[in-house]
Amino acid sequence: MSDSRRGLVASSTGILVVTALLVCASEGLNSEGLYLLEFKKSIHDEFNYLGNWNSSDQTPCGWKGVNCSPDRKNPVVVSINLSTMKLSGTLSSSICNVVNLAELDVSDNGFTGNIPREIGNCSRLESL
Ligand SMILES: *[C@@H]1O[C@H](CO)[C@@H](O)[C@H](O)[C@H]1NC(C)=O
Ligand SMILES: *[C@@H]1O[C@H](CO)[C@@H](O)[C@H](O)[C@H]1NC(C)=O
Ligand SMILES: *[C@@H]1O[C@H](CO)[C@@H](O)[C@H](O)[C@H]1NC(C)=O
Repeated sequence: MSDSRRGLVASSTGILVVTALLVCASEGLNSEGLYLLEFKKSIHDEFNYLGNWNSSDQTPCGWKGVNCSPDRKNPVVVSINLSTMKLSGTLSSSICNVVNLAELDVSDNGFTGNIPREIGNCSRLESL
């Protein structure tokens, strides 16, 4: 192998590594998933109903109680049903960042306090 060829191999290996790093960095949980994990932080989930809310997923669409739009490429969370999961704790207004959310059912749980005003103020949220 000539020196210039070796240099070429080395630099294309470098490009491959950089590309792989970029691809890895762009994977990971989308922003709605991060908002939902933030929302979950203030919830006490004694029986681990929300156990599959996993930060290693790319979208929250497969998570228990979470429903997304059918858009396969860029699905957004449209409704969340946490009814009857024996949850307690508080409802965080971080849920308001999930801007396409139209329905949030948290009935039959042990949440303390009122539904925060900020949540009542979530623009798209039609029913609670
Ligand atoms: C989350 O997903 C990763 C990768 O699929 C898996 O290794 C891990 O065990 C999961 N964590 C939980 C808490 O389910
Ligand atoms: C949420 O789930 C509960 C229990 O499965 C069901 O009774 C209720 O109708 C659901 N709520 C909505 C808004 O779909
Ligand atoms: C609710 O929204 C109104 C109008 O956008 C705003 O003036 C008010 O401060 C909001 N309240 C809360 C608690 O965020």
